[in-house]
Amino acid sequence: MTQDELKALVGQAALQYVTPGEIVGVGTGSTVNKFIDALASMKDQIPGAVSSSEASTARLKALGIPVFEANDVAELSVYIDGADEIDAQGYMVKGGGAALTREKIVAAQSRRFVCIADESKLVKTLGAFPLPVEIIPMATARLVRQFEALGGRAQVRQKDGAPLVTDNGQHILDVTGLQIGDPLAFESRVNQWPGVVTVGVFAHQKASVCLLGTSGGVKTLTF
Ligand code: 5RP
Repeated sequence: MTQDELKALVGQAALQYVTPGEIVGVGTGSTVNKFIDALASMKDQIPGAVSSSEASTARLKALGIPVFEANDVAELSVYIDGADEIDAQGYMVKGGGAALTREKIVAAQSRRFVCIADESKLVKTLGAFPLPVEIIPMATARLVRQFEALGGRAQVRQKDGAPLVTDNGQHILDVTGLQIGDPLAFESRVNQWPGVVTVGVFAHQKASVCLLGTSGGVKTLTF
């Protein structure tokens, strides 16, 4: 099966976690796009979705799925999103699509995080995928030095020859060379550096379940 087919498989499988009558939290990325497409088949059974990015909002709306503001919804029973890496504890690296801050906000207001991913995303230790960190631009040089002191190499993510600007009007640092052995401690530490909006380690908002697309079908990991 191709990676695209594996993504479609888990996108479809995630429908079982959507509760009829309830608003669903929706992440961002190519795997989530498959989920959104599948969710269209249930659009008459749910009030709508809370979205984690402008891109997902546009896709949801194009399929006729209403989108609610996070501030107008108290709690969500489930949030469904992809990951760049996930380990055996359900800790993740996210933000390859630059939507990590809103993803963490929607995850935090959800009782359950269902991660959908193809098997290439399952890792022993987080850190091989360049770690995305959303930052305030004026802190760039100091944050690059702080990551260097941890043994990492940070670069401002570019798009069309200029720094990529997130949905929140900020920049992304991608940090290579890290081995994140203690994701909870790492997330807490980096998140309190001045200028960091959100670090792409999702340990405090880890997955509850992962639907992993494998050549043998969907494997369910529970954390
Ligand atoms: C976006 C994300 C995505 O969930 C992550 O990058 C995985 O994306 P894809 O499903 O395209 O592999 O964190 O900010």
